[in-house]
Amino acid sequence: MVPRSCYRVEAAVMIRWLGHISSTGLMLRLACSTALLFTLRMCVGLSWFQVLPSIFIFFLGSGGWKSLHVFSKTIYRDLHAASVLLRVKLNVKKHLRERNTVPKLFAKSVKKYGDKTALIFEGTGEKWSFKELDEYSNRVANLLLQRGFTEGDVIALFMENRSQYVGLWLGMAKIGVEAALINFNLRLEALVHCVNISNAKAVVFGSELTDAMCEVHSSMGKTVKLLCSGEWDPKRVPEGTEHLEPLLETTSTNQPRQPDRSFTDRLFYIYTSGTTGMPKAAIVVHSRYYRMAALVYYGFRMKSEDVLYDCLPLYHSAGNIVGVGQCLIHGMTVVIRKKFSASKFWDDCIKYNCTIVQYIGEICRYLLNQPKKDTEHQHKVRMALGNGLRQSIWEEFTSRFNVPQIAEFYGATECNCSLGNFDNKTGACGFNSRILPYVYPIRLVKVNEETMELIRGPDGVCIPCGPGEPGQLVGRIIQNDPLRRFDGYVNQSATNKKIAHDVFKKGDSAYLSGDVLVMDDYGYMYFRDRTGDTFRWKGENVSTTEVEGTLSRLLDMKDVVVYGVEVPGAEGKAGMAAIADPEHTTDLVKFSRDLEKALPPYARPVFLRFLPEVNKTGTFKFQKTDMRREGFDPNVVSDKLYFLDCTKGQYVELNVELHRSIVSGKQKL
Ligand SMILES: *[C@@H]1O[C@H](CO)[C@@H](O)[C@H](O)[C@H]1NC(C)=O
Ligand SMILES: *[C@@H]1O[C@H](CO)[C@@H](O)[C@H](O)[C@H]1NC(C)=O
Ligand SMILES: *[C@@H]1O[C@H](CO)[C@@H](O)[C@H](O)[C@H]1NC(C)=O
Ligand SMILES: *[C@@H]1O[C@H](CO)[C@@H](O)[C@H](O)[C@H]1NC(C)=O
Ligand SMILES: *[C@@H]1O[C@H](CO)[C@@H](O)[C@H](O)[C@H]1NC(C)=O
Ligand SMILES: *[C@@H]1O[C@H](CO)[C@@H](O)[C@H](O)[C@H]1NC(C)=O
Ligand SMILES: *[C@@H]1O[C@H](CO)[C@@H](O)[C@H](O)[C@H]1NC(C)=O
Ligand SMILES: *[C@@H]1O[C@H](CO)[C@@H](O)[C@H](O)[C@H]1NC(C)=O
Repeated sequence: MVPRSCYRVEAAVMIRWLGHISSTGLMLRLACSTALLFTLRMCVGLSWFQVLPSIFIFFLGSGGWKSLHVFSKTIYRDLHAASVLLRVKLNVKKHLRERNTVPKLFAKSVKKYGDKTALIFEGTGEKWSFKELDEYSNRVANLLLQRGFTEGDVIALFMENRSQYVGLWLGMAKIGVEAALINFNLRLEALVHCVNISNAKAVVFGSELTDAMCEVHSSMGKTVKLLCSGEWDPKRVPEGTEHLEPLLETTSTNQPRQPDRSFTDRLFYIYTSGTTGMPKAAIVVHSRYYRMAALVYYGFRMKSEDVLYDCLPLYHSAGNIVGVGQCLIHGMTVVIRKKFSASKFWDDCIKYNCTIVQYIGEICRYLLNQPKKDTEHQHKVRMALGNGLRQSIWEEFTSRFNVPQIAEFYGATECNCSLGNFDNKTGACGFNSRILPYVYPIRLVKVNEETMELIRGPDGVCIPCGPGEPGQLVGRIIQNDPLRRFDGYVNQSATNKKIAHDVFKKGDSAYLSGDVLVMDDYGYMYFRDRTGDTFRWKGENVSTTEVEGTLSRLLDMKDVVVYGVEVPGAEGKAGMAAIADPEHTTDLVKFSRDLEKALPPYARPVFLRFLPEVNKTGTFKFQKTDMRREGFDPNVVSDKLYFLDCTKGQYVELNVELHRSIVSGKQKL
């Protein structure tokens, strides 16, 4: 007969082994230990007194102590997240069943909140109650119906002035017309491209953008109708333009007949710069709008009595969904500011009793750069909501401005792999459970950070990252589940580029976020960088391919390589253009003038580097790795360097002294 102690040794080996194969799977390990316990007890006939302590000791010995620690530290966080996910999921199911849409959900808010202030426009001081917003959007809907627009048509919205913005797209949504929300910084080709790819039948533009419209009018389709909102000057607008406001005034405010749209139909389009090329139109369906707004609302424990300060652009999901969505769906008062102002920020918060402020990374740094004043901690703001707050300024931001909670989240408009830092963890942009990591189908997988290529194991499946290993964030796509599907872009081939196969297991497909994150032992995720070329500057993604194309055109098709360089203390990366100019023929004054017309401010290169030739690979691809590493230091780079002085709007020579003042943060970028 085999002595019993042998079984014990075997059990120890088995548990240890199980511990190894599932160093994260605490649940699995607990289950295995329990199963072993029963097996030992029943089959081997050990007494409880022998089994329990040995199992416990083996459990701890196999790394169980650490798991228990992780378990106790994260269980409340995970339970909260699970309840939020479940709640949103059930709500979405309900809305699907009831064939609700964002306008229908808004109608419920109107019923409930009626005369409560829905939107406040800082600047003009206008206040719109839920009723007024409803009536305005009814007018818009009725006017468009009269004009023959029907369900499924697209109308581009190109406005900087805000007060009508929400009412306009909401009115369109009421009759199933889809708005294409166009970045008001766009000009020329990019603007035409955006209108074209959306197949818009009309453009509603703000009078402040009349010049931009005139520039592109001739290259737009002849059948595209133009409507102008704001100050009317018939001599300046393109021919055939109509003035919106007088038309609206004479239109009925009655609820229009709503078409039978479902929760999974298209609501509007938001443009992303994506990873390469021109902006892409990402589809936002009603359920996605709801989900993004609701996850933030429940996840960060907001209330309808909160007042939200939203100074982000409304053509982005952060401003228009995460911010305005709280008003339309959850009945919150939202203060909209046309343009972010660092000096007025906290005064506005006090003026409107704001309790939540929205940010993007840049905003926080601009606020910290302001001189100290009393109002900056006399407000009632309890939470700052946004993404891109750097770890390096995180604590300074919370302590100086007396903001108790940072609600940092991560999520691309078009992606279904959102993360949220629900429990105020310093520096994190979200987390995934370490106890049951498979419940939420996201994962970090190993990637070549420069080429964006996924690194695959011998079986062809992607390799998941452990704690401390940076990897690209991917989200599994379950297409037949409306909650989990990826709605993609208008351009089908662009959609395919963002999808990889065999990621979690053989035969599946997953969305590629294009961002590199790193996870700690507790499952908290920290943003690291974007994979590939696109870099972020002033809160926007700058597509190097696009900028390269434009610069090359302005410079008589010279070879131009664009890349981002790190500037100490600045968020994102500053654009740098290396220009091959062996004969020194570039006219910098003309170049900076042309640049102002051709590119939005954030895409204009901050640094220029003139060199005789740029290195190319055998397949005629530019090599930027070396140049990116050399950066903009004149001590390292022997080529001529220039710096875009934004106060002068001119490129000036970058010498050692200027370099020092940029690095020390004295020189404004
Ligand atoms: C923005 O709209 C307000 C009122 O709607 C108007 O007073 C103001 O002049 C507009 N600004 C621009 C730049 O058009
Ligand atoms: C936009 O569409 C119009 C008509 O369909 C076409 O003439 C024009 O070339 C297009 N422009 C771009 C930039 O694709
Ligand atoms: C802000 O709160 C104070 C006191 O609670 C109130 O008197 C004031 O009217 C509020 N301001 C706004 C804009 O709601
Ligand atoms: C959030 O964390 C900061 C420090 O990291 C702390 O001062 C603050 O009290 C926390 N807020 C909440 C609501 O727990
Ligand atoms: C930039 O890219 C990130 C990650 O893909 C995305 O979350 C964000 O919405 C993009 N921003 C713009 C302005 O396209
Ligand atoms: C998509 O949305 C669903 C619904 O909440 C969520 O459970 C899932 O994790 C999300 N992500 C992916 C990648 O499918
Ligand atoms: C669609 O995307 C592909 C790849 O990104 C691009 O080559 C093509 O020009 C795009 N088509 C349109 C109409 O934008
Ligand atoms: C181009 O390649 C050569 C040879 O590999 C190298 O010495 C040089 O530094 C490279 N130039 C740049 C600008 O990277």
